[in-house]
Amino acid sequence: MNTVTGEETIVTTTSDLSTATVDVQDASIPTLGFGTARMSGDECQRAVERALEVGYRHVDTAQLYDNERAVGEAIAASDVAREDVFVVTKIHRRNAAYDDALESTRASLERLGLSTVDLLLLHAPSSRAPLEETLQAMNELQDEGAVEHIGVSNFSVEQLEAARDGSETPIVANQVKYHPYHHQDELLEYCVDNDVCLTAYSPLAEGAVPGDDRLAEIGDPYDKSAAQVALRWLIQQPNVAAIPKASRDEHIEANAALFDFELSEDELAAVADVGDGLWNRLAATIGLR
Ligand SMILES: NC(=O)c1ccc[n+]([C@@H]2O[C@H](COP(=O)([O-])OP(=O)(O)OC[C@H]3O[C@@H](n4cnc5c(N)ncnc54)[C@H](OP(=O)(O)O)[C@@H]3O)[C@@H](O)[C@H]2O)c1
Repeated sequence: MNTVTGEETIVTTTSDLSTATVDVQDASIPTLGFGTARMSGDECQRAVERALEVGYRHVDTAQLYDNERAVGEAIAASDVAREDVFVVTKIHRRNAAYDDALESTRASLERLGLSTVDLLLLHAPSSRAPLEETLQAMNELQDEGAVEHIGVSNFSVEQLEAARDGSETPIVANQVKYHPYHHQDELLEYCVDNDVCLTAYSPLAEGAVPGDDRLAEIGDPYDKSAAQVALRWLIQQPNVAAIPKASRDEHIEANAALFDFELSEDELAAVADVGDGLWNRLAATIGLR
């Protein structure tokens, strides 16, 4: 689906939940992912199974979340083929030293019941080891086939630049907090310029967005909620994927219903303006207007 904004076109790739992707460097990352933090055991397994059933093809977990086993069980139980699911996990920052990165990732794979993950992130910058050391381990995990792509999380522009310089293979994603109240203009500009996916975590501001009347009003003409407007705003931006978390079925389903409407340029700006009003600057910088 394309949205024409003045002379520029925002490309949101293909047009439905199961096929929409952010294509960067050698990776094709499903635009809408399913967040799993603060869910574990049966609750997590059931939610991930439901998400796969309704069309999500990207699941985000982490060593920190203590739910890799439940995520793996959901993938195994699902009718969706393993190769159709983009599985992301993250090395805990305390496991950033070379041996720990290797061992903890192998343990993640075992818990997930998978021979490979699609994307391995370093969860956050770490003082446990120089970044190059962690990246060397991540590159080796790729060489041995345990990991398809690598990336980082909670990295600033400068830290992302250092990661790109220090890795033998492409850094395809930086997962950071991004929602209407927390903008990422400088980082997004960098990601667009350097073909990196910006994965938006806490895209619903951990549950604050759904109660926002200003966002709900923008969604009214489309019969969409505040949460759907915020998620649509994110995925309509170049290089942006979003990973909302939901445990309730109605939320899992609502957050997936983003591919039958598109926000106009004015509506995109209005969503940004509920935050700190940086959208106009961002849009000008990355050439959306
Ligand atoms: N890399 C990192 O450092 C990092 C940090 C934070 C998060 N993350 C990732 O990002 C994912 C998402 O972030 P998050 O979990 O912090 O928060 P979030 O996705 O911004 O918000 C989740 C909250 O919103 C509620 N919700 C979801 N859909 C809704 C809807 N349509 N209407 C009303 N309420 C709705 C959920 O309720 P219910 O659960 O009751 O349905 C839950 O309370 C995490 O799960 C994790 O995978 C990564």
